This record gives sequence, C-alpha cells and structure tokens, in this order.
Amino acid sequence: MLIFAHRGASGYAPENTLAAMEKALALGAEAIELDVHNVAGELMVFHDRRLEGKSSGKGLIHLTSRAELAGIRVGGEPIPSLWQVLEFVGGRCIINIELKGIDTVTPFLALYPKALTELGYRSEQLLISSFNHPYLQQVKQALPHARVAPLLAGIPLDKANIASQLNAFSLHLDIAFIDRALIEDAHARGVRVYVYTVDDGDDIRALQQLGVDGIFSNYPDRAAEALAESRA
Ligand code: G3P
Ligand code: MG
Repeated sequence: MLIFAHRGASGYAPENTLAAMEKALALGAEAIELDVHNVAGELMVFHDRRLEGKSSGKGLIHLTSRAELAGIRVGGEPIPSLWQVLEFVGGRCIINIELKGIDTVTPFLALYPKALTELGYRSEQLLISSFNHPYLQQVKQALPHARVAPLLAGIPLDKANIASQLNAFSLHLDIAFIDRALIEDAHARGVRVYVYTVDDGDDIRALQQLGVDGIFSNYPDRAAEALAESRA
C-alpha cells in the first residue's frame, strides 16, 4: 500500500508548509499530497479557499496579492509556492498535486514541463488530482503523459467510469464513502484506488482487506506501522 503524507506530515507540522514536507521526508514518506490555489498566476500550497482559520491572513486566497501572502503565516510557517515545494523535495518522493482552487490549470500547464526538465521529476512521480474533473480533462488533453486522478466524495451511478473517461491513473475516494463494487470496478479498469484521509489502524486494515492500493494519512509513520502490524 502506498502511503501519502496528507498535506505533508500534517499531523506533526503545519499543513502544506515546507516544514510539513520536511517532516514527511524525515519519516520516509514515499508520497506527499498537497493542495494548490492560483495566486496572481502562481500556484501556492494551501488547502482552504479562505485564509482565516488556518493562517494569520483573511479573505479569499485567490484574490490576495503575492506581496500580502508573503507576510501570512500558517502555524508560524510561510505559505510556499508549488515550485518551492517541488524544488525542496527534489524528486525524492511522489507528489500528488491537488488542483483545489479556481483557475489552477493554466499555471499548472506552465509549471509541469519545467518540473520535468529543470527539477528532474519523472512523469510517474507527479500525480494530479482534483474534484474538478473538467480541470483534469484539460490537463490530460494538454499533457497526455501526465498522471491524473479524479477525487470523489460519494458513490457515482456509473461506478469508476470517470476514471476511464479521463484515462486516469488512480481514483481517490473518501473514507466515508467506500464501496466494494466501486473499488472492484476501478481495478477491473486497471485503475489504482487511493483513499483519504485515513489515520486509524482499524480503518487501514479494513481498507487493506478491500484491496485498496493506497491511503492519505496525516501521520504517515503510524499508518506504515499499522500496515506492518497487520501483515505480521
Ligand atoms: O487529496 C485527498 C484529500 O486531500 C482530498 O480532500 O479536503 O483534504 O483536500 P482535502
Ligand atoms: Mg487535498
């Protein structure tokens, strides 16, 4: 099972910051998930649509200026750009970039080829996910070799068909809506199934029995321990 450090190792460090990425790498994470928004043409790593609650700022992140954003802190840490995170990680693990905010496709299409040529990432190391499936369609049309993954927060009528429609690498499911038929249909289509957000050992073992291929965890080390125990 592949374990993604969700928003970095966000159980241990402020989510989606370089500190969370550093902690994930220190814990030996094989993969990291993060969320991006478009701020004045640059992809910035942050989860929420609004700044208040998780940061020292307030208002809509995509309407904030870059200068203003530079002064905002998340648990004392700056909000990094996607490029900064990719540079920092330097190809040491898989990165799942979740296109969370509005207008994220255009800056992503500009960044992706540079991540391969300038930072040395292989296309297999970058997985692009979104609840916005038309965004993934645009990514796939422009970058046929890019790995894309639709996120779901429910059970569709047509099972895993969206994954085939998008020629997706994986399907990302909410732990609250897990369905055996959906998982089996994804596998029959050759699509991996990754589930978010999973921190408890009993959940991990149950998902393992269902044949899930990976999970997103805020505590990737604990998830790895739970997996090792269930194998023993
Ligand atoms: O990408 C998996 C998961 O992060 C999706 O939900 O709200 O945590 O971004 P959320
Ligand atoms: Mg996310």
